[in-house]
Amino acid sequence: MEIVLSGIRPTGNLHLGNYFGAVKNFVKMQHENNAFFFIADYHSLTTHPTPNDLHGNVKQVLAEYLACGLNPDVATIYVQSDLPEIAELYLLLNMNSYLGELERTTSFKDKVRTQPNNVNAGLLTYPVLMAADILIHRAKKVPVGKDQEQNLEMARKFAKRFNNLYNVQYFDEPTPFNFGEELIKIPGLDGSGKMGKSEGNGIYLIDDDKTIRSKVMKAKTDAGPTIPNQKMPEEIVNLFTIANIVSEKDTVNVFRNKYNDCTIRYGDFKKQLAEDIIKFTSPIRERVLEIHANEQYLKKVVKLGAEKARVSASKTIKEVREIIGFKSF
Ligand code: TYM
Repeated sequence: MEIVLSGIRPTGNLHLGNYFGAVKNFVKMQHENNAFFFIADYHSLTTHPTPNDLHGNVKQVLAEYLACGLNPDVATIYVQSDLPEIAELYLLLNMNSYLGELERTTSFKDKVRTQPNNVNAGLLTYPVLMAADILIHRAKKVPVGKDQEQNLEMARKFAKRFNNLYNVQYFDEPTPFNFGEELIKIPGLDGSGKMGKSEGNGIYLIDDDKTIRSKVMKAKTDAGPTIPNQKMPEEIVNLFTIANIVSEKDTVNVFRNKYNDCTIRYGDFKKQLAEDIIKFTSPIRERVLEIHANEQYLKKVVKLGAEKARVSASKTIKEVREIIGFKSF
């Protein structure tokens, strides 16, 4: 059994990008692997240092995950801050990570641009905390979307460096995983590259039908094709990318052919796309509401998850301490 791990920051509701980039694969993998899934509440403080309702956000994301099919009877589901061992491994890994390499990561450079008034040390060392999340269970496979590729590269680097420094073969190198396929990037509805929580361009799993229709109908399009088989602009490619994951193949082909012979009406395409998204999200939305209302159940899930996760985390910390040379008197 391989060790699989993934996580999400509780900074907003789950959108189609989160689902198709990571959750779907995790749900598929949880049965055949030793699977860990956690809610990265420490991480969320890097962008939201004083959240309005940290606990409420964690609870909401947890309910959404369970509604997507994460099964607490087979996977270990926990909240990051319930495992102090992660913070300790983060501290130890920080001693072997360097300013230059951390400053060069794309996500850090992005954040310096988007939140210039809060370039905190947590942002700088974000990849180290993420490596600690993964290495604390010595996970090998990490189902994530394309945006996490560089963070995984850093995690491999820190794992390798630890082994070299202490002359051990302790950590395996964790790799992003998508069943042998390219990692996925779900685009936004605004013609931009990526659907994101902070970009305001997403469709959330808990959006109601009306909201989904309105968001899709407002998605950016161009004036339409005028030359047969002409190259699609990015915003139209994006709509087809979303259609490819929620609509029937035949439906997508019909619209693609209409694009190619210049008879497509974007209004019809969007109407169909909205209905196909609704068909996919509405059962999940109903389950979210049900699970969210069941306080006792949620409490049980995280309590059991933390207990299970701490067994594996404390074993790693004990061994790491021994490897480094800490000894008790
Ligand atoms: P986060 O919270 O931004 O997103 C959670 C997961 O959703 C994926 N994702 C996407 N996939 C495809 N297309 C998109 N538009 C899209 N948007 C988001 C992300 O790739 C991610 O898999 N740093 C992580 C959380 C984390 C983590 C970890 C993940 C912390 N420690 C250890 C794995 C292992 C993050 O911010 O994801």
